[in-house]
Amino acid sequence: MNKLRIGICGWGNVATGLFRTLETNHEEIKKRGNLEIEIIVIGARRDNPECDPGNVTIERDIFKVIDHDIDVVVELIGGVDVARDLILKALNAKKHVVTANKAVIFNHGDELFRVANKNGVKLLYESSVCAGTPIIKLLNQELAASKISKISGMLNGTSNYILSNMEEGMEFEPTLKLAQEKGYAEPDPSFDIEGTDAAHKIGILSSLAFGSSLPPKNFYIEGVNKIHKDDFKYAHEMGYTIKHLAIAKSMKNSIDLRAHPSLVKLDSYLANLKGVRNGIEVETDLLGTLHVAGSGAGQEATASGVISDLIYLSDSKIKEVNNANESSELFDFIDLDFQYYFYIEVSDLSDVIDSISSIFENKGAGIESISQKENLNDDLVPIIIITDPFKEKDYQELVDNLLDLDSVNKIRSIRIEPQ
Ligand code: HSE
Repeated sequence: MNKLRIGICGWGNVATGLFRTLETNHEEIKKRGNLEIEIIVIGARRDNPECDPGNVTIERDIFKVIDHDIDVVVELIGGVDVARDLILKALNAKKHVVTANKAVIFNHGDELFRVANKNGVKLLYESSVCAGTPIIKLLNQELAASKISKISGMLNGTSNYILSNMEEGMEFEPTLKLAQEKGYAEPDPSFDIEGTDAAHKIGILSSLAFGSSLPPKNFYIEGVNKIHKDDFKYAHEMGYTIKHLAIAKSMKNSIDLRAHPSLVKLDSYLANLKGVRNGIEVETDLLGTLHVAGSGAGQEATASGVISDLIYLSDSKIKEVNNANESSELFDFIDLDFQYYFYIEVSDLSDVIDSISSIFENKGAGIESISQKENLNDDLVPIIIITDPFKEKDYQELVDNLLDLDSVNKIRSIRIEPQ
């Protein structure tokens, strides 16, 4: 039986979830993971009324956890700067580190992996992407023989939860509140609803699959906060639904990296993953398209990934986790072509359809379909357009030209992801 002595840094939602799961699933971890985990110390700045740590030693200074006789520091404090300092100190003290912290891996991954390699210890981070839904070790180990051409999916549980509820007719704000109550959302939920959390995760997956740097250069990020529940109704009528997709795709000499809402076909695999579930589609040469789905947020889901790292770490035969970066360049977002869904709200229909059509035509954006919908309460008329693909660099001017029309009241738009 392998044995690990661990110190947990942090005593919030994730850490207490890990503590409890180590108790409840003790037998499974022993039998199937061949591992006995002993918690030696917890770094807790303050007590947590939700969880009694029993006889485990408590350090109020989390950095002191590293001084104990432990094999692994489990970093669950979140945030970036202090977490970076803590991980660096632990690695330099030749302790392995397991973290669930995507922000610190996204912002400082290259540096942290270098320091881990230099010290001959490992830095594992399965739970940093989609909690315990297995994707990091899957890309690093199981798919190591395959060429990966594209990774896409819903990587933020809160966004998927919000969109799934809006699809059923709920408004945005109450569903965000529910996601917060259920503990899915980040302490600052703007990270979820503005797309930052999903962007961190796809940045990490892109570094694994395509060798982009951590942190990556700037890339396009948009969240779910501008979507209206009516967009689902109109999208459904055309055979689509709306998902927040994070995408990393191998281009000829670069990587297409982005995170934003997308229309996806209603009968696609990703369209049917609802609620807090994360879903990832990996396109490979040897296995074809592979799907992974599971809970992407919450105490237990995160504990599952942290424990899987501990089990992996306890197997002394494992090869080095390879985070060698080739510093691949990112493709310029504005040079991509997208088909678009447009919601255009107009006050007066006379002539406006012709004016709208000629604005699209001037920008080289063909119109695949255009339909007028039922009047809104205040007599405004929604017009729904699906375009042919056109260059992203022409998008903003096209929208500005549409908004210059007197009778155009409001515009919303969503890209369509080809499948
Ligand atoms: N707030 C995150 C989410 C938690 O909703 O997916 C897991 O990273």
